[in-house]
Amino acid sequence: MLPGDLIGPVEIGAVAHGGHCVARVDGRVVFVRHVLPGEVVTARVSEVTSRFARADAVEVVRASPERVEPPCPHAGVCGGCDLQHVRPEFQGELKRLVLAEQLQRLAGIEWDGAVETVPPVLGSRTRMRFVLADDGALGLRAHRSHAVVPLPPDGCRIAHPLMPQAREMTTDLADGAPAERGTAQNRSSFSEAAEYLGVVSAEGGRLVAAGSPAAAEVVSQRVGERGFRVRVDGFWQSHQAAPEVLTQAVLGGLRPAAGESAFDLYCGVGVFAGALVDAGCAVWGIEGSRTAVEQARRNVPQARFFAGAVERTLRQLPKRADLVVLDPPRTGAGAAVMNAVARLRPRAVAYVACDPAALARDLGTAATLGYVPASIRGFDVFGMTHHVEAVAILQR
Ligand SMILES: C[S@@+](CC[C@H](N)C(=O)[O-])C[C@H]1O[C@@H](n2cnc3c(N)ncnc32)[C@H](O)[C@@H]1O
Repeated sequence: MLPGDLIGPVEIGAVAHGGHCVARVDGRVVFVRHVLPGEVVTARVSEVTSRFARADAVEVVRASPERVEPPCPHAGVCGGCDLQHVRPEFQGELKRLVLAEQLQRLAGIEWDGAVETVPPVLGSRTRMRFVLADDGALGLRAHRSHAVVPLPPDGCRIAHPLMPQAREMTTDLADGAPAERGTAQNRSSFSEAAEYLGVVSAEGGRLVAAGSPAAAEVVSQRVGERGFRVRVDGFWQSHQAAPEVLTQAVLGGLRPAAGESAFDLYCGVGVFAGALVDAGCAVWGIEGSRTAVEQARRNVPQARFFAGAVERTLRQLPKRADLVVLDPPRTGAGAAVMNAVARLRPRAVAYVACDPAALARDLGTAATLGYVPASIRGFDVFGMTHHVEAVAILQR
């Protein structure tokens, strides 16, 4: 089997972590994209390693009843979405299967929960990173490639309706005003940037060149009654409803009581810290990005924030905490942080995860330290993609 080969017709097996399903061809595992379990397809091989191959569906010979016409004309080519061909309700079921499989295989946890739908599926993303296509228009990267797929003429389907999707709408010129098409000034601004950041905030939609001074400006967001300021290039959950949904999941799981101490680790600009302060807790936060910590201090002045890696900075905080929130990046918290958290002897831990494998590995570590899940909830805040968010509540 070589890249470029056409394989099949082949029957597609189970869904796997990463946005593909597993097939077997001549005894070799092939991860096939843009298919569904039970389908029969022909596929083009894109990569071959000693252990497995990757392939993309070319023709569907027998379709799953869950297959639908993709809403985007660039589905299957654009790397931004990988589940456009799947009925939205069934996308959550695929994510449930992946989450359950990862928890079972990597942590020995039998999970029978659901992945909850978080509307809207289309038009939800308030944060996008665009790249320039050859013709100078905005696009998104193809899957596992530097190739750029231009946006459809009527825009990216998962972007928020207020998301600017053309460079004429950049606001990174000196005066911050929207650039006018064709002026010498905005042409020079265009030629310098290879990537553009799109944000939708309380102020509306903005498009700025990555790395420009405008990318360091702050915009306003709201979670419940609380306002937050966050840099255009800083971290903010991309689904418009995610900050609120995840905050409610964390609060509902931890049930913070007034007077309890709480740590918000990997705190970003302080979303969970703010909710814990409002619940009457004494709150400490740690975040690796200095600029996010500056914002967190302004956003939640009642909490104490420390800039630095959680693994090193945790020792500067008190030796005990009643509650801990962990919201690490995709790589997870890791064994050292899980050990340090267990030594705090918290009453409960909320682990907010954007990667099922990292969650499962860290929950496996937590179990060896005496902390087991009281609940695990999945949230589909990444519609049309294979990504899924989960909130696990751990107790001793
Ligand atoms: C998934 S985001 C969560 C942010 C925040 N909880 C929120 O909901 O907006 C993960 C955060 O961890 C930070 N980070 C990544 N690695 C870190 C580390 N080793 N120590 C501390 N913070 C880290 C990133 O800068 C990012 O803000």
